[in-house]
Amino acid sequence: MNIFVLTGAGVSAESGLGTFRDKTGLWTRFDPMKLATPGAFALNPDEVHTFYNLRRRNLLEASPNPAHVALARLEAELGKRKSRLFLVTQNIDDLHERAGSQCVTHMHGELLKARCTACDAVGSYIDDLGVDDRCPHCGQPGSLRPHVVWFGEYPLHMATIDEALQNTDLFVSIGTSGSVYPAAGFVKQAKDQGIRTCEINLEPSDNAALFDEAYYGPASQAVADWVEKIIEVVTPA
Ligand code: NAD
Ligand code: APR
Repeated sequence: MNIFVLTGAGVSAESGLGTFRDKTGLWTRFDPMKLATPGAFALNPDEVHTFYNLRRRNLLEASPNPAHVALARLEAELGKRKSRLFLVTQNIDDLHERAGSQCVTHMHGELLKARCTACDAVGSYIDDLGVDDRCPHCGQPGSLRPHVVWFGEYPLHMATIDEALQNTDLFVSIGTSGSVYPAAGFVKQAKDQGIRTCEINLEPSDNAALFDEAYYGPASQAVADWVEKIIEVVTPA
């Protein structure tokens, strides 16, 4: 039984990382068009670097919560039964990896990586960007940007994601408002293939009507409870 799990900012909320469209979400305090678009970066690189440098420093202080740990456990349990957990995240944090998940697809990039605008090389980079940085690959000074997908750019790994959706028996969406495409469209793609769908969120998302079942509450509890249940289903006594 292969399971496709899509996560959003809500799965990292209890680790202290901000969401985007909640009451206190980042986009209620900052204008994404001024901080999360290629145009904004061209116009105000220092402002964009400052925004992401602060988020990177917060991330380095943060820890995975029980929802991340439960998903890492589910991946291991499914692996023992020659099944797969396709974990696709819209998040740019590395909390799934730090909780032990081995295979994570970051469709919006990764905050702890930088991309060189001169040679396109991508690599791990945890220091502040925009401050005497130079590309570790081509040596170009001041050419690094966050390896993050901005509005107007194309999400990453879409072929891998489509392939995973074709080989899935259960689609689960966790901690996302379901308001940003293409991620928000995955549940309809799953339903059109006759795949069962489940939502785990603090409150009903924008596409809540498309889910066959739903569990509402903080992810750290709701995801841990759901993993406990689904492991019993996939590992008959
Ligand atoms: P898109 O067209 O799907 O995004 C539009 C969505 O962005 C809207 O549905 C709305 O939810 C949100 N949005 C746009 N303007 C907004 C505003 N002023 N205030 C609040 N929300 C606003 O996606 P896109 O524009 O083609 O971007 C491509 C991808 O880049 C998307 O998947 C997006 O999620 C991603 N992205 C990542 C980051 C990041 O920091 N990782 C930031 C922005 C966008
Ligand atoms: N447990 C479970 N769900 C939670 C929790 C929690 N503790 N806290 C918040 N949520 C839910 C909210 O109810 C909301 O539905 O998580 C969802 C977060 O939604 P958004 O803030 O819109 O974040 P997300 O869906 O990940 O945004 C998608 O938009 O700006 C882009 O690239 C950015 O990846 C992001 C994308």
